[in-house]
Amino acid sequence: MNNTIILERTTFSEIPIDYTWSFSDKTIKDTSYITHGYYTYPAKFIPQLAARLILENSKEGDIVIDPFMGSGTTVVESIVNNRIGIGTDINEIAYLLAKVKTTPIKTSELLQEFNNLDFDLQSRLNGQYDYFLKKAEQILPKNERIDYWFLPQQKEKLSIIFARILEIQNNDIKDFFLIAFAQILKSCSVWLQKSVKPTRDPHKKIYEPLTLFLNQSKKMLKKHFEFDKILNQSIKNNIDKFRIVKCSDSRNLPCEKDTAALIVTSPPYVTSYEYADLHQLPSLWFGYLSELSEFRKKFIGSAYKDDRKKIDLKSSLADKIVLQLGENKKGKEVKNYFADMLESFLEMKRVLKKGGRACIVIGNTEFNGVKILNAEVFQEQFENIGFKTYNIIHREIPSKMLPSTRDTKTGQFVKVTDKNLKLAYPTEYILIMEKL
Ligand SMILES: C[S@@+](CC[C@H](N)C(=O)[O-])C[C@H]1O[C@@H](n2cnc3c(N)ncnc32)[C@H](O)[C@@H]1O
Repeated sequence: MNNTIILERTTFSEIPIDYTWSFSDKTIKDTSYITHGYYTYPAKFIPQLAARLILENSKEGDIVIDPFMGSGTTVVESIVNNRIGIGTDINEIAYLLAKVKTTPIKTSELLQEFNNLDFDLQSRLNGQYDYFLKKAEQILPKNERIDYWFLPQQKEKLSIIFARILEIQNNDIKDFFLIAFAQILKSCSVWLQKSVKPTRDPHKKIYEPLTLFLNQSKKMLKKHFEFDKILNQSIKNNIDKFRIVKCSDSRNLPCEKDTAALIVTSPPYVTSYEYADLHQLPSLWFGYLSELSEFRKKFIGSAYKDDRKKIDLKSSLADKIVLQLGENKKGKEVKNYFADMLESFLEMKRVLKKGGRACIVIGNTEFNGVKILNAEVFQEQFENIGFKTYNIIHREIPSKMLPSTRDTKTGQFVKVTDKNLKLAYPTEYILIMEKL
């Protein structure tokens, strides 16, 4: 581990970029190795980043936690590096995904179940279509939003696939195929491809559900075999002792106080993504979405949260930012966000042992000319609740596709499509805070 670096709380943009944290040599194959590529989860960080933080700041057998685990990158990297991985996320899809990505399954059983599925689905969809469609219709959750996103023909075929997956007896194997199903939903719907906002595209090319499902399952099978090979045998045999994933709030971690060595996380941003909307398609099929408006409020950073009473944000910079934004919707959203994040940091403090570290990957943003200095605010909040700054890393986020930036009016991620516009890659910070 490096020596402690003392940093003044100035704007972090002046910190030189450390290019060893760019991982620009990594290909998509590298970043989707073992189970990491099962599902397209927005704003996930790359496994190499999580792995380096874990290796440099903890040792084998330590507890590593991600309170905003999303697709479970930190938890996967924790167990393959012989740590105990704990993760929470408020989103049921994230929970299911992280569970599937970290659950070892016997190769022969998985393959057998895939062959059975393949055989049954071919005959149901080609031969006994009407009979199985009737059966499937009884299972499918009733929600008019499904008809909004799926044309009747795709919906029927997807229903037959979904109903067949639900017949699988072994829960781990059933969940594995549910994730394959979740991953193909966007391509089988009229959801505007590549859009993170729920937008309909009437001209979209829609793919054949069975072909997509079988191809996705095959891809995942191959990756699962890789995962099975590299996972330590004793972890494989006792997975429930080495990995705890839960669908719950970051402010209520499933961990005893003063026991964890490390937190590695990338928290949500204020009103950048509406995570509740993003995972709408699988949530609809799996029956997770009865009340979208109530569901949205649980997400930190959502624009739909109820306003809070007066609260001490434990950061004079946060107070200044909120004041600058003014008494309007945006001002309230940012205040709520910093308040929610402060509560998450207090929970991190509860579970970390003395000397334990919290690594927070976060970028800054801007609304209507007001700089939302998330990283600087978080550092101040941490220091005011009993942490010291161990290190702050300024990193570049290389993008293999179009570089993205944030719209300075809305703060949302947008792709830069103007070829003449030269845009430096966006950067972000890794705060490494140590519990005193
Ligand atoms: C930037 S993403 C994390 C991505 C993750 N690092 C990965 O590699 O997939 C932030 C996550 O925070 C979750 N989140 C938002 N509010 C939450 C809350 N109150 N408790 C726990 N998780 C929450 C979102 O559902 C989202 O998955």
